[in-house]
Amino acid sequence: MSTAQPRQILVTSALPYANGSIHLGHMLEYIQTDIWVRYQKLRGNQCIYVCADDAHGSAIMLRAEKEGITSEQLIANVHAEHSADFTDFLVEFDNYYSTHSEENQQLAELIYGRLKEAGHIATRSVTQYFDPDKGMFLADRFIKGTCPKCGAEDQYGDNCEKCGATYEPTELKDPRSAISGATPVLKDSKHFFFKLPEFQAMLKEWTRSGALQDAVANKIDEWLNNELQEWDISRDAPYFGFEIPGEPGKYFYVWLDAPIGYMASFKNLCARRPELDFDTFWGPDSSAELYHFIGKDIVNFHTLFWPAMLHGAGFRKPTGVNVHGYLTVNGQKMSKSRGTFIKARTYLDHLQPEYLRYYYACKLSRGVEDLDLNLDDFIQKVNSDLVGKVVNIASRCAGFIHKGNQGVMVDANPAPELSAAFFAAVPSIGDAYEKRDFSRAMRDIMGLADRANAWIAEQAPWALNKQEGKQAEVQAICSLGINLFRQLIILLKPVMPKLAVAAEDFLNVPALTWDDHQTLLANHQLNAFQPLLTRIEPAKIEAMVAASKEDLAADAAAAAPTNGELDKEPLAAEINFDAFAAVDLRIALIEKAEFVEGADKLLRLTLDLGGPKRNVFSGIKSAYPDPSALEGRLTLYVANLAPRKMKFGVSEGMVLAAGPGGKEIHLLSPDQGAKPGQRVM
Ligand code: MSP
Ligand code: ZN
Repeated sequence: MSTAQPRQILVTSALPYANGSIHLGHMLEYIQTDIWVRYQKLRGNQCIYVCADDAHGSAIMLRAEKEGITSEQLIANVHAEHSADFTDFLVEFDNYYSTHSEENQQLAELIYGRLKEAGHIATRSVTQYFDPDKGMFLADRFIKGTCPKCGAEDQYGDNCEKCGATYEPTELKDPRSAISGATPVLKDSKHFFFKLPEFQAMLKEWTRSGALQDAVANKIDEWLNNELQEWDISRDAPYFGFEIPGEPGKYFYVWLDAPIGYMASFKNLCARRPELDFDTFWGPDSSAELYHFIGKDIVNFHTLFWPAMLHGAGFRKPTGVNVHGYLTVNGQKMSKSRGTFIKARTYLDHLQPEYLRYYYACKLSRGVEDLDLNLDDFIQKVNSDLVGKVVNIASRCAGFIHKGNQGVMVDANPAPELSAAFFAAVPSIGDAYEKRDFSRAMRDIMGLADRANAWIAEQAPWALNKQEGKQAEVQAICSLGINLFRQLIILLKPVMPKLAVAAEDFLNVPALTWDDHQTLLANHQLNAFQPLLTRIEPAKIEAMVAASKEDLAADAAAAAPTNGELDKEPLAAEINFDAFAAVDLRIALIEKAEFVEGADKLLRLTLDLGGPKRNVFSGIKSAYPDPSALEGRLTLYVANLAPRKMKFGVSEGMVLAAGPGGKEIHLLSPDQGAKPGQRVM
């Protein structure tokens, strides 16, 4: 039994933005964190895991506008979607909250107030581009224009995608607002700054305190060896966020209150869980441990601004910031057109969450390197390790115990050196979990599974079972086999919590803990064996990739139309008549409209163009649950769009619709009298 005092640990994952869906790249982080947290809980430590949606900022405000709903409605919808995704991936937060909360506002005001009191806030005037139509200041990504270096048109405010040049937005030629299309004007405004340079010495010490991976500490050293800049923490109205106390029209920049959201989520949890005390975890002298898991793109926020804010406001600093690399799929950046930009929900529609949890565990180590989800390797590894090695032990042995001994495991250990090897391997596997070296933990666990399988194969209970007088031996072998399987399940439990529950059910034991590995079952009644995990069929992967391409088509269909107020939609660049005439727009008669097997968002439309027939896949199923209602209707059709090959067939052109998406997609119709095939001008 472990005698050490249980540790008190608070763990966070980065707060995902509330303006988009969770994808498999995000899931890398939440699965990594969840495995670590589950390991700590299994060891009997008090480990609390909190997270929240990052709900503020102009991107969220603009998307809500585009969808014709309030920012509050948008973040409520996304919160529900994100929560369901995490739950279904077996990511078990103690609290999943929102940065748009009362607790967060109070804490943001408290921290800002203390920083101001201590003289860590400066104010000065900043000159920025302002959209006169929209009445708002424009962040760099909302300004477009011609590159000052190479003359490429339609480049963003801070860098050119054509030639790679970086510049100030004011250097762009012919600048315009990406939101309204208006020509921006320069305007002054008072901004608030956090005086980061005052924390240089503290940060130098903290980054070398063991809180960071070496590669990360080295990177930060580069920053710390140069002059630090003051950090602009305010934004002007209109902005979706918290107004700065006493400064009407000025808001906290989203990145100021986002990490405070970690504290707020925990505070919200404390109100429900009386055994938790806020100050015990966040007070300046806290002896609890605090870990943030984040991706490599947001390191500066967590290792410079955040510890400095905490320190300056009289709170404790993180024990560790654990940084992971980026996910690639099949060796490349996730790509919508290749179908490898896979949303969490799309994955879950086709595959079990634990397959991915296991695969990520096999790939994750302490480093910050990028990590690849190779879909062929994924199938191979899951099928051969989980199904072929681990579950196989139980399915091989359970039958003999049920048939030969009414499901009762006997008290015998025919291979003490093997069970001893299993016991001996546990501390080092625990250590690998603790250090987040999950790939080593998985390798060692599969090494044990190989030994168990090799031993069972050597004993060949299936051959012995046919011989006279060997029944006791068969039962002894299979009972040890089940015990070894139980050991593997304990070791895998942080990664495969659902498999563990199914195994506990079969083993007829209460929830397994880490310390249970020290015992073996004997004279123990098993429950009936149910298949615990099935193989991944390659067709499922193909379907998931096809559905991801389909998501793209549906997103495009939903993004194109406006919500009826033209000024809310960025206007496209002007084109001449020839460019317009190049689009072959026709009236089409919808002859047939039907569901597409295996497609969640598409309808297959057979269009009659007054003779010629066309086949079109359209992402409008959400708005037309009864497709037959569309049959016989006229609509507008782009006839000369390049055909697109999809899993279900070739889509020849597209039909036109308006609306923000979901149920609100409306197919366009011509006035009475229009005829199929007529050109639209
Ligand atoms: N809202 C901020 C975080 C605020 S924390 C106080 C944010 N959100 S995010 O949705 O863009 O990303 C959330 C987390 O997912 C980040 O840690 C980010 O690094 C991680 N990932 C996003 N895409 C990823 C991959 N493709 N691969 C691995 N991790 C990825 O940043
Ligand atoms: Zn350029």
